[in-house]
Amino acid sequence: MKILITGGTGMVGSAFRQLDTCHNLILVGTKDYDLLKPSKCTEMFIKHKPDAVVHLAARVGGIKANTDFVGDFYDENIKINMNVLRSARLMGTPKVLSLLSTCIYPDNPIYPLTEDQIHNGPPHKSNFGYAYAKRMIDVQSRAYRQQHGCNFITAVPNNLFGENDNYHLSDSHVIPAMMHKMHLASRTNSPVELWGDGTPLREFTYSRDLAKILLFLIENYNDETPVNVGNTFECSIEEVALKVKEFMHFKEDIVWGATNHQGQQRKPSSNQKLLDIGWKKEDYTPFDKALKDSCQWFLKNYPNIRGAS
Ligand SMILES: NC(=O)c1ccc[n+]([C@@H]2O[C@H](COP(=O)([O-])OP(=O)(O)OC[C@H]3O[C@@H](n4cnc5c(N)ncnc54)[C@H](OP(=O)(O)O)[C@@H]3O)[C@@H](O)[C@H]2O)c1
Repeated sequence: MKILITGGTGMVGSAFRQLDTCHNLILVGTKDYDLLKPSKCTEMFIKHKPDAVVHLAARVGGIKANTDFVGDFYDENIKINMNVLRSARLMGTPKVLSLLSTCIYPDNPIYPLTEDQIHNGPPHKSNFGYAYAKRMIDVQSRAYRQQHGCNFITAVPNNLFGENDNYHLSDSHVIPAMMHKMHLASRTNSPVELWGDGTPLREFTYSRDLAKILLFLIENYNDETPVNVGNTFECSIEEVALKVKEFMHFKEDIVWGATNHQGQQRKPSSNQKLLDIGWKKEDYTPFDKALKDSCQWFLKNYPNIRGAS
């Protein structure tokens, strides 16, 4: 299959480059096609005529960026998704797999998060622009399926990490931010200041595992309902920080409470549906190994990483 991957220059997109696959993967980023522009999006579909699309392109950021730029996150994601899904429909693309996120689930769900709860109430106030824009991918995909017979499917990852992440000090996710902050603090032998109190629990999935799962779904899943795809092992932010500290060889202290950006206390998800489709629990890379590899990648590539300057 010729599979077009939007967001091919991002963290998850880059993970596809490491996969051993018989498919012809075409990875594109903003410089190739700015998907905010409908004409560029149409041009992309006309040029590549994909058999399937993995739609990853999005305005993505951590808790602070999601709050500070809540309107931009809504605008850009709604536009990108509208352009990509609409062009795919008009061009008769046989299959599209788009990414949602567990952070779009309602603020007061029944745990663990199951796919049927996505629209059951408002999302957490810290990221409602991004969350509602992502929820609309599910609506758009199902509406096109019902009216036009499009085989558009969706997957719901939890917190992702891996090589080639965005390491910006205030606009990134928790793991890459910790790596970068510890690296800078180690240069001045200073303690590192981390956000929140370290108690929230989170589940993390390695970007390379996600890339494999997305190809697995392209090959094996054709239903309209979303699929949670993350590794469901829960870890406190403090535990993660201690592991990052070890793998980054950081010798100084960790100080908590630099800001009150903390988010939900926990949001465990169920990946039972993915396991029922045939993915195996043991196919996830062990967290420590994935985290160690990601830290080593950071140390090897710094300062030539996203968000370093
Ligand atoms: N990271 C997470 O923890 C997480 C969790 C759940 C779900 N997700 C979802 O997973 C997907 C991939 O995330 P990621 O972490 O790989 O994000 P990322 O590293 O920030 O990459 C975002 C990608 O989107 C592209 N993009 C942004 N604006 C674009 C535009 N106007 N036109 C074309 N491409 C554009 C970027 O291209 P350029 O770099 O070339 O500009 C980049 O390739 C996203 O849909 C995200 O919502 C991520």
